[in-house]
Amino acid sequence: MDKTFYITTPIYYPSARPHMGHAYSSIIADFFARFKNIDGHKVHFLTGTDEHGLKVQRAAEKNGQDTQKFCDQISKTFQDLSKTLNLSNTDFIRTTEERHKKSVQHLWNELEKNDDIYLSNYSGWYSVSDEAFYNEDEIDEIDGKKVAKSSRSSVEWIEEESYFFRLSKWEKPLLEYYKSNPDFIAPESRKNEVISFVKSGLKDLSISRKTFSWGIPVPNNEKHVIYVWLDALTNYLSALEYPDKDHELFKKFWPASIHLIGKDIIRFHAVYWPAFLLAAKIDLPKKIYGHGWILSGEEKMSKSKGNILDPLKIVEKYGLDPLRYYLIKEVSFGNDGNISQERLEDCINSDLANNYGNLCQRVVAFAIKNCKGKVPNEIKFQDEDFIILNKFKDNLENIRSKIDQQNINFYIDYIVNSLFEANKYFNDQEPWKKKDNLIRLNTIVYTTLEIVRKISFLLYPIIPESSLKALKIFNISENEINLSSIENNEYLLKDNNINKIDILFNKIEKNND
Ligand code: ME8
Ligand code: MG
Repeated sequence: MDKTFYITTPIYYPSARPHMGHAYSSIIADFFARFKNIDGHKVHFLTGTDEHGLKVQRAAEKNGQDTQKFCDQISKTFQDLSKTLNLSNTDFIRTTEERHKKSVQHLWNELEKNDDIYLSNYSGWYSVSDEAFYNEDEIDEIDGKKVAKSSRSSVEWIEEESYFFRLSKWEKPLLEYYKSNPDFIAPESRKNEVISFVKSGLKDLSISRKTFSWGIPVPNNEKHVIYVWLDALTNYLSALEYPDKDHELFKKFWPASIHLIGKDIIRFHAVYWPAFLLAAKIDLPKKIYGHGWILSGEEKMSKSKGNILDPLKIVEKYGLDPLRYYLIKEVSFGNDGNISQERLEDCINSDLANNYGNLCQRVVAFAIKNCKGKVPNEIKFQDEDFIILNKFKDNLENIRSKIDQQNINFYIDYIVNSLFEANKYFNDQEPWKKKDNLIRLNTIVYTTLEIVRKISFLLYPIIPESSLKALKIFNISENEINLSSIENNEYLLKDNNINKIDILFNKIEKNND
């Protein structure tokens, strides 16, 4: 049977244009999707926009626009961003689509059927910015204004008739689930946070609103719209054609391998979502990973705070792959991270241009001059060649398991070290001094070319475009990238032509004042 992998990003609110935080989640998800893809998996990679609720309705009002038209417009900027970021997403879902509404209403009916929904009255604090209800002990007062402690966003008091989900009933089953599935929530710190929140006691959750209409109607009571989080979370199912459980997509890809999210929305994904699914008797996703925040100074970068960095501008200035590389390498995955153009420029100069780009250029130029522009045929490996070549195969299992633990930093460190070693190998072997020993010269060139091929495979999930450019040296195309060739220790075909390639990365001039 095919190995499958289903990864999702949060679906973003189209209340304002995307910023670096959204780009970050999407790029990380793309990294995993591409890795699994070249590692022999059928991959489903979902992203999209979360279009209902008061937050979006108010944003449209503020812009004096019809809500649906406003959503169309901003959702389009997220779709465009997916292209700009070279995401390999296989679907883009919008919660205003028919396929989604149908699915949400079905889930509602399932919850109702299982006696997990009742009608009552809600009174309490609500943050429109977070689309979240807060308890009294989660509220602070700053300058006479009530705000949520966790997000600092302002809250308003609401009182209205509302349907409730019997969340309290799921407190014990959730705790049991976390216990018997220790990898369900990651990283560890996030898991502990969630467990202590659930242990402190779960109250039933308000899951409908009556005082505005921008949402999916509650079946059989059109005066209510479904709470935007119950609506939004269901996107992960509706994109697989739920409720049609016999659909190929659903059969193949549910339960999701990983919901990748930011830590701001861990509670919705690690408490409410599994509770809804347990109540509806649907399998739970295998993992919820809550990564850290991209900060702007000390604060979370967010559209409500207005301290955002536009990913499009960075891509325009430096190119996409440098941005992808930088975000994947320099933010310690799972933790918060500041981003600086200074560090981004260092990455371009040292890792990308010097370490990778230069290795490619050097060995190709040398091979064109000294090996008739072909992958050398007459070669004879020595121990030092085998050692460096076999490392990739020997480390592959470890790399795979690190990826399954979302240890991105291990992965990229492994590549950076391999690049150092490759450059060192080429320098130490001094092929330019071997012109009277052509077999040795050929062998060094062959070995270095083979390393370039292997490292370019590993770099593909991080910097797909540049890796493909480098693989043009060997006329290797995207669908030929496969980690099984590392696993099986396959080597380059001899006598094939070697192509000259353009400079992969331009160095950034830095003024040191
Ligand atoms: O919460 N650093 O949408 P949203 C890192 N619609 N990641 C960040 C970030 C930052 N500064 N800012 C945003 C919602 N993100 C809901 C989700 S899912 C069923 C519904 C990323 O537009 C991060 O992934 O507020 C965060 O969780 C998400 O964008 C929030 O996007
Ligand atoms: Mg948000």
